[in-house]
Amino acid sequence: MDRRTFLSWVGVGTLASSLPAIIVACSSEETETETETSNTTPPKNEFVEVGNSEELDIRGFILNKDATGESVLVFRKPKTSELIAVTSKCTHAGCDVELDTDAQLLICPCHNSKFTLDGSVANKPATKPLASYEVKQEGNSILVKVI
Ligand code: FES
Repeated sequence: MDRRTFLSWVGVGTLASSLPAIIVACSSEETETETETSNTTPPKNEFVEVGNSEELDIRGFILNKDATGESVLVFRKPKTSELIAVTSKCTHAGCDVELDTDAQLLICPCHNSKFTLDGSVANKPATKPLASYEVKQEGNSILVKVI
């Protein structure tokens, strides 16, 4: 056997011996992905934690894009401190709305739709209100009911 033939056989042998490890590695990645997906599926009509009161007090809002399966914006209504939770996705084309506490509006930066703090349309082009969620505080946890 010449040197070239020997090296090709070594290469084939190395590849063949690595194949089971490659297959196992690929399989475990799929399993982890499936597990992550099933763990993030929120239960309907149950409250899930979207953040904590410290984060809410420091930033003035909580924007959570995972916990409920929707993107949720939580903030306190000025003066009353009542908790409010609405979808952050503008009903016009899906951009994230931003809280303007001075104007007491939720404003979409994409095409300037405006919503009242309870999610009602205040300025077009959006024509549908933002979905609102039940929200409560338990200890430091801010909880939103999945719909
Ligand atoms: S996406 Fe919000 S106004 Fe168009």
